[in-house]
Amino acid sequence: MHIYEPKKFSLPSLDGISDESVKQHIGLYEGYVKNFNAISKQIAELAMSDSEKYAHAISELVRRRSFEFGGMRLHEHYFTQFEGTSNPLSVNGPLAKALEETYKPLDVEKVMKMIGSMRGPGWAILYYDPEAKELLTGFTGEQHQGHFVTLPIILALDVWEHAFILDYGAAGKGKYIDAFFKNLNWDVMEKRFADVK
Ligand SMILES: [Fe+2]
Repeated sequence: MHIYEPKKFSLPSLDGISDESVKQHIGLYEGYVKNFNAISKQIAELAMSDSEKYAHAISELVRRRSFEFGGMRLHEHYFTQFEGTSNPLSVNGPLAKALEETYKPLDVEKVMKMIGSMRGPGWAILYYDPEAKELLTGFTGEQHQGHFVTLPIILALDVWEHAFILDYGAAGKGKYIDAFFKNLNWDVMEKRFADVK
């Protein structure tokens, strides 16, 4: 069984998202990694011990394991987006052109903000469908529900309250989303797009 290790991120100090908030958030990320490993181990143990007797417990653990995996992978996408330094999207680059084709007259920030403002814990996510050559935006409930299956993620915006409550309070999601966009290193998203398009 593969044991997942939490990744380390080299993050600059962010503008509008405090170091303390980032520190606590990384702690939560590490919790997903830890719990993914723990659930994997428990499923194996129960299955080997008596899979019939523990069928309901196993079934619940299998369902929750994708929640932990989603939390692990999405947060890795999330923190990586701030690594290095904040960099704007290259206006004439392939990602900017694809975004313009999809969203004009809106821009991706407005669309992600609209989706991120939806009720319920989750993520606003920008995906790319290499088959249709189409950028798609969606809302993923919790960490694992509502994904466009198989599609690679270009941009992941965490809109769980834990991402902003420390800096902005329970009603501060909008201000946090503005800060999120201010700190992005678009080189990261451009590379993701180049890798899958
Ligand atoms: Fe989070």
